[in-house]
Parts: sequence; C-alpha cells; structure tokens
Amino acid sequence: MSLDRWIGLCRPGFEGDLAAELATVLAEEGVGGYARTEAGEGLVEWVAYGLSARELLALRSLPALQDLVFCRQLSLAGPQLTALDPADRASGIVSAAPWPAAEVLVESPAGPAYAGLERLAKRLPGPIRGALEDAGKLAGPQDRKLRLHVTLASGTSAWVGYAPAALSLAEPGGVRRLRRLAGAPSRSGVKLQEAFLHFLSPTERHLAFAGRPTAVDLGAAPGGWTFVLRSLGAEVLAVDNGALDPSLAEDPLVIHVKGDAFTYEPPRTVDWLVCDVVDKPARVVETLARWLRRRWAMRAIFNLKLPMKQRHAAVMDARERFFRILGPRAEEYTFAVKQLYHDREEVTCYAAPRGGDH
Ligand SMILES: C[S@@+](CC[C@H](N)C(=O)[O-])C[C@H]1O[C@@H](n2cnc3c(N)ncnc32)[C@H](O)[C@@H]1O
Repeated sequence: MSLDRWIGLCRPGFEGDLAAELATVLAEEGVGGYARTEAGEGLVEWVAYGLSARELLALRSLPALQDLVFCRQLSLAGPQLTALDPADRASGIVSAAPWPAAEVLVESPAGPAYAGLERLAKRLPGPIRGALEDAGKLAGPQDRKLRLHVTLASGTSAWVGYAPAALSLAEPGGVRRLRRLAGAPSRSGVKLQEAFLHFLSPTERHLAFAGRPTAVDLGAAPGGWTFVLRSLGAEVLAVDNGALDPSLAEDPLVIHVKGDAFTYEPPRTVDWLVCDVVDKPARVVETLARWLRRRWAMRAIFNLKLPMKQRHAAVMDARERFFRILGPRAEEYTFAVKQLYHDREEVTCYAAPRGGDH
C-alpha cells in the first residue's frame, strides 16, 4: 500500500485551521495536494500528489509539520483500510504496513463521530505487535526510528501510517491528560503544567528550576498558574486586581501586586514571565515581546485567546508582531506556539533565548 497522505489529529472544530497550516508548510516545500476534512471530526486527511512515501517522510519541513500549532499528532499513512475483520483486525492492519516499526500506537480522532473507539484502541497494540513480529516487521532495538500509527475510523476501518518516533507523541491522539495539582486554586494551572512539558525537555525543566527562579504572573487570580510556579520552586510576583486564593496570599514567596498587567513594570529582571489575561491577542503578544526586548524577563509562556474565525491567520499575525516588537533582538529568540490539549479557544506561546539563556 502506498503512503501518500498525512493524517493530522486536532481539537474538534479546528480542522480548517490545521488544513490551512498544512497547506502553508507544504506549499513552501513545493508539495501539492488537497485536504479532506469535516467540521468537528478532529481529523484532517491531507493527500499529497506525486511524491513517494520515503520522500514525504524525509521532507525537510517534517519537524515543522510535527510542530504545527493546531496539530496534536501527525502520521504519514495510506488510504483508509475498510472491512477489517473484527475477529482479526491486527493481520489486516499489519499486511497494509509496508515498513518495520519498533513501536505501535493505536489512536482515534477526538470528534464525536469517533466516540467509543478508545477501548478498542487500548486492546489492539498487543495483537498488532504480535502480528508485526510474525510478519518479520518488528524493528529491533537498533532501529527505533519509526512508530506505527493506527488511526481508527470505526471498529472495522483505520488508517495505517508511520511517524518518526522522536517527533510524534507517545500518548494516543497526542493527548497529554494532566491532573490538577493537589490543593491548586483553579483548574487552569494544568495549561501551564502542560506547557512546561511540551516546550521544555526534561533537562531544560531541571535546569530552569534548579535554583529558586523568579517569575511574574500577569493576570494571576485566583492563582492556578502561580501555584504551578510555586510547586516548581519559583518565587512569584502575582499581578492582578482580583483576589488570590488565601493559600497563596499567605505564602511568603508570593507577592500579590494589585495592578494592571499591561502597564506593570517589574522591580528587576525575572527568569519567567507568564500571562493568562483574557484580552486581544495583539495586545498580549506586544506586551510580552516588549518585556523581552527590555530584558525585564528571560523567557515567557503566555496564552492567546483566539477569535472565532481565521485562527490560523491570528496566530501568524501574533508571530509577526512578536518579532517586529523585538526588533533588533528578534534573532536572539525562538517563538513556539501550540494549541495544547488543555487549551480551548486559545493557544499557548513559548518565547525563549536561542540556545539557552543569554
Ligand atoms: C483566566 S484568569 C487567570 C487565571 C489564572 N491563570 C489561574 O490559573 O488561576 C484571567 C485573569 O486576568 C485578570 N486580568 C484581566 N485583565 C487584566 C489586566 N488588565 N491587568 C491585570 N489582570 C487582568 C483577571 O482579573 C483574571 O483574574
């Protein structure tokens, strides 16, 4: 079976944004094709014209594809397999898998049309591994590069594809479900927890919080993000006119500043700036970029609430504003944007000095 399409999974309702992103990235590579998707499915099938599977997998922009803002998971697959035998789905799946793989991930899109497939997805990896082994397609430890992705469309149909194991997420559907920390004053702290997991490697996380870093939390109340920063050992200036949760108000390493997020100036440079203010994306991104340009903060994590339409365009606009405001310092910074699992009508941004702190 020829692998000629990408299967991208996303938050239901964001299919158009993911399709637009894929088209943008692939157009830069000169890859033609078309997207097939239906609103609310949580899936985009992007069919490429005239390139071999190896060429598609080796595209220079593949890491960019994996980093797509609205994409939770991306695999290179063949046309959908239908009429899988419910008594032996694994054989049908493996016979459609052209290459060996070291790992197997079975997942399903998040849209309601695919509800109820999670249980089957949990049961299938064992039989598929067995069938891969029988067929001589289980890669040994020396070749752990590819992960087999089986994306279930129903109990009897699926896409069979691959992604580089280093680039795709090991969690089915690219979904990192996190629990709120015990005692946290609000649920929204999980967004910051997920951001640290997504944007920083384990080593970077360790180094970033090894001492007692300082942080500013703009729009902090009631304190979910401040609570996460405190749990990592940071000292926090929490800026909000609203009240903080009493547990934080009594914490000597949290200073509550009653002030405006857009005009507040820190007493000294801080290691981290975080911001969860609900306001226009342009206003938020410009404020955060100014902090970095003035060296008031070393790194920033912030959320942008998206408009109802043209969300891909809104993200591109934010990226352009970020670098424009940084001006001569733009080269020094990386700017990554992702719609994380715990984000709703929003995306999370991470801005940091290139190659570590300056
Ligand atoms: C979504 S809530 C933040 C939730 C918080 N991150 C948490 O985890 O608990 C947004 C907060 O931004 C604050 N806010 C909105 N506009 C602000 C401004 N201009 N200056 C300071 N705070 C602002 C609101 O008072 C509100 O507490």
